[in-house]
Amino acid sequence: MTPDEPASHPAESPSPSAPAAPIHLRAAVAGDIPALVPLLLRLKRLNEEFDPLLKVRDDADAQARQVLRAQIADPKAVVLAAEGIGADKDKVVGFVRALVRERPFYAPEHEGVILDIYLLPLYRRRGVGEYLLREVSLALKARGAGVVTAEFPAQNEIAARFYAKRGFRPITAIHARSL
Ligand SMILES: CC(C)(COP(=O)(O)OP(=O)(O)OC[C@H]1O[C@@H](n2cnc3c(N)ncnc32)[C@H](O)[C@@H]1OP(=O)(O)O)[C@@H](O)C(=O)NCCC(=O)NCCS
Repeated sequence: MTPDEPASHPAESPSPSAPAAPIHLRAAVAGDIPALVPLLLRLKRLNEEFDPLLKVRDDADAQARQVLRAQIADPKAVVLAAEGIGADKDKVVGFVRALVRERPFYAPEHEGVILDIYLLPLYRRRGVGEYLLREVSLALKARGAGVVTAEFPAQNEIAARFYAKRGFRPITAIHARSL
């Protein structure tokens, strides 16, 4: 367990159509960037714990701002913000970031790549992640993607299980070594 994962809530059985912990999911707008940056950095720092080759850069905060600003405005990208309810109303408690990439040699010709999916710990294990995954997949399909892929650290077994449950399987692998 990592410091990012302190509050493991009892699993509830999510309904097939809506998460058990309701959130309000919507397209992110530029005004969400200050709320999204800390979430994105929490995810990158979690990734860093899985592998030293995923060390977070000192300027990651500025990079996150820049990347989010560009992708929120990019019609080939999808950035969805999950707002909480009740006391967390109007607070962004999670997000998903994805983009459509061309596959020059393979069919289908366009893949939707899920780059980040993150929920604050209190919102996990209630089907919200699956809901985000379903919605981002639909948004990617609407932008022309014929296949959806996900990038995450090879050591992140929760992510592997999360995606496997929704029918994802490994098709390529990135192997790395320092130079
Ligand atoms: C990955 C993440 C978005 C999943 O969201 P979630 O709302 O917790 O997931 P769901 O409740 O929809 O769970 C769906 C399935 O994923 C798997 N899963 C999710 N969390 C798990 C955990 N802690 N341990 C084991 N399996 C888990 C299970 O198969 C689960 O189905 P089940 O509840 O019937 O067992 C969330 O755990 C998260 O934000 N994690 C930190 C960031 C991260 O690792 N992102 C992925 C890499 S980019």
